[in-house]
Amino acid sequence: MSRLLNKVAIITGAASNPGLGHAIAVRFAEEGAKLVLTDIDMVGLAAVEKELTAMGAEVLTMEQNVVDENRWQEVIDAAVERFGGLSVLVNNAGIALMRPISEYSTADYDLQMDVNIRSVFFGCKKAIPAMIASGGGSIVNMSSVAALRGIPGVSVYGIAKAGVQIFSKGIALEHAADGIRCNSLHPGLIDTNIQNDARRDNYDEFVKIGESVPWGRMGFPEEVANCVLFLASDEANYVTGTELVVDGGLMAK
Ligand SMILES: NC(=O)c1ccc[n+]([C@@H]2O[C@H](COP(=O)([O-])OP(=O)(O)OC[C@H]3O[C@@H](n4cnc5c(N)ncnc54)[C@H](O)[C@@H]3O)[C@@H](O)[C@H]2O)c1
Repeated sequence: MSRLLNKVAIITGAASNPGLGHAIAVRFAEEGAKLVLTDIDMVGLAAVEKELTAMGAEVLTMEQNVVDENRWQEVIDAAVERFGGLSVLVNNAGIALMRPISEYSTADYDLQMDVNIRSVFFGCKKAIPAMIASGGGSIVNMSSVAALRGIPGVSVYGIAKAGVQIFSKGIALEHAADGIRCNSLHPGLIDTNIQNDARRDNYDEFVKIGESVPWGRMGFPEEVANCVLFLASDEANYVTGTELVVDGGLMAK
């Protein structure tokens, strides 16, 4: 109940349930964090706020398109004003436009890059001064196993997620002296709403993909949330500039 006591955390993309942002928010709330939750889906976010408030958590929700640079500053300022500082940023919001390159338009490419990597640049750039003013912090950037291996139909998503990985290492080095840690988290196949298209398009194939994971199933959002909690907490105090793969053994094959 106290692994994040007195920590103020911003989590983007927190509205989807089941979703990683929601699971991270619940886990952080259980450990005493004060939360700033953002998303473009305000209906979903209101439901998450209700759930967390009922748990006794202190929560501020804000509409935020992570592609909007100015909105980032407003979110950071609101976090500092409401809770007195900023200790943790989880750049979680993301989309997965998965299709072969022959079917990928330039507009698709731009959208994939904007939401999954440009947003992480904005988030880190804007959060770091507030973290320095707060005496340090932890940034967790959501990448993917798609950063680590070529996957057909996932090539453009993979560019963005590989960018998140190497960007996180650079930030870790640039701000180690400020007491700011920065790591990337690489989930494998996790059963959230991001899988809805695959689940709907071919359910039998969807089940088979899950069974092909060495652990025998897709991951649960809570299993990723526990790892984000570790990286966000002081237990990971000597962990920076690295990647944590959470994939049921997928990358070991
Ligand atoms: N679920 C998986 O298998 C998996 C695997 C690897 C990586 N990831 C990554 O984890 C993160 C979370 O994925 P998820 O599975 O929870 O997906 P999800 O679709 O369930 O949730 C994503 C959330 O991001 C929000 N979002 C989308 N575009 C946004 C924008 N422009 N601004 C603000 N919010 C926006 C959505 O409204 C939604 O609430 C993503 O970055 C995704 O790429 C997921």
